[in-house]
Amino acid sequence: MPPETRATVQIGQYQFVTYITEEQIRHRVAELGARLNHDYAGRTPLMLVILNGAFMFAADLIRELTMAPEIEFVRISTYGDSMTSSENAQVLLGLEIEVDGRDVIIVEDIVDTGYTTQYLQEYLEQQGPASVRLVTLLFKPDNFKGGTPPDYVGFDIPPAFVVGYGLDYAQRGRELRCIYQQV
Ligand code: PRP
Repeated sequence: MPPETRATVQIGQYQFVTYITEEQIRHRVAELGARLNHDYAGRTPLMLVILNGAFMFAADLIRELTMAPEIEFVRISTYGDSMTSSENAQVLLGLEIEVDGRDVIIVEDIVDTGYTTQYLQEYLEQQGPASVRLVTLLFKPDNFKGGTPPDYVGFDIPPAFVVGYGLDYAQRGRELRCIYQQV
């Protein structure tokens, strides 16, 4: 059986079980795409995909869109290889992108503490965009510590650590087709 269809996966010393299935993800991503198509009809938003974790969600979400967005990538590190977030956001790639007058849509895989997106939202607001909204596949409301909450959320989830569908533990597990929760 290929790893992506297993009910449980082991990564390092940790065990994970299926939490959100491939089918549930596909269905919800299509719904999010439909909302963006409605809200941005006739416009050319600039989608800013936060690497690395959002690559898979972004690829699926963008293929649901009927408007023609521009797509750019930024990289901001907060987790490193640990399971806890930190307030020390660090820009590694992409903040030279011109956003003046643009309708920006930040694309995230997960908003946990919110430090990563808060940092990016505050940076972008200084560059004079027409609008900035945030779409995230996963949101942990219990861990959220401020900033502007996401405008579009795929799934609210509890604080437990998750991997799969782009999300990693120590750079592993991103290839998995489902989202798995730590046991
Ligand atoms: C993860 C995730 C988000 C961020 C969310 O990124 O992809 O960008 O953490 O956490 P926060 O809301 O507490 O800031 P990470 O820094 O692990 O890098 P990655 O995307 O390369 O996995």
